[in-house]
Amino acid sequence: MDNLKTGEVICKRRKELGLTQNQLAGILNISFQAVSKWENNTAYPDIEMLPRLASALNTTVDALLGFNSVITDYDGRYSTEEYYWGLIPNRICFDLMKLLPPVRPYRVLDIGCGEGKDAVFFAKCGYAVTAFDVSEQGIEKAKKLAEYNKVHVRLFKADIFDYRPDGEYDIIFSSGVFHFIPPAHRKELCDSLKAHTAVNGINAFNVFVKKPFIHRAPDGTRDETKRHPWLSGELFGYYHDWLFCTCKEEIFDCNSGGTPHKHCMDTLIAQKV
Ligand SMILES: C[S@@+](CC[C@H](N)C(=O)[O-])C[C@H]1O[C@@H](n2cnc3c(N)ncnc32)[C@H](O)[C@@H]1O
Repeated sequence: MDNLKTGEVICKRRKELGLTQNQLAGILNISFQAVSKWENNTAYPDIEMLPRLASALNTTVDALLGFNSVITDYDGRYSTEEYYWGLIPNRICFDLMKLLPPVRPYRVLDIGCGEGKDAVFFAKCGYAVTAFDVSEQGIEKAKKLAEYNKVHVRLFKADIFDYRPDGEYDIIFSSGVFHFIPPAHRKELCDSLKAHTAVNGINAFNVFVKKPFIHRAPDGTRDETKRHPWLSGELFGYYHDWLFCTCKEEIFDCNSGGTPHKHCMDTLIAQKV
């Protein structure tokens, strides 16, 4: 259970999304005084209002009530001063820059941004960046990184299972995250991301892939029940109706946990034409 009261949760989420009390009230078709009362904890939203409010704030009813589903172990990894994933941007970022150079502030969404290295890189290049992660620690560090680099990134904590994009994006990007999505949720997620991509916009993702000849990473600190490697080519199938710019499968060495092992990864960069 989170220590925040509902009013504080509403206020925090609203500000993270850059909404005024008036704007939130407008979305919900209520008075701004009602929003103000919730945020001051002098009144609570009606039960029937909670799903709509959660949707307007891109969050869940659970989160509004102060319950947070801790679903990954990343908070611990992000709790040190060091940047767990380093500060070098993912190479996909450079591919994206070639395809859609920031000649105007194209809108980028980074899903599962971790400590923000890629989101901040995009912002430094001139993109208008929105980024979220389920890890509070990750978001706090991403905010620090953005501040240090004197760039604005719209950063907030959200769970990909509840989040649906609030507008259109030119680039939707996610690296090293989608293996947390169980198979049953993948089509709906990809459909939603495709629908929220502007024409000529790009989706760029990589996913860990299961191969019979590659054994599981021997990292005992991870909860493997929460990881769901994809089938080879599965990601590509969801984008069969888009133009493929990059479509590749790679096997690479990894040393996480101290024991050398291998991973297989599919990477797709596809354009909506
Ligand atoms: C391997 S890290 C990659 C971080 C970042 N994309 C990068 O490349 O530096 C995976 C990230 O996915 C985030 N994550 C896992 N499940 C998530 C979920 N359900 N919603 C949002 N983020 C999630 C984790 O908190 C973590 O930061």
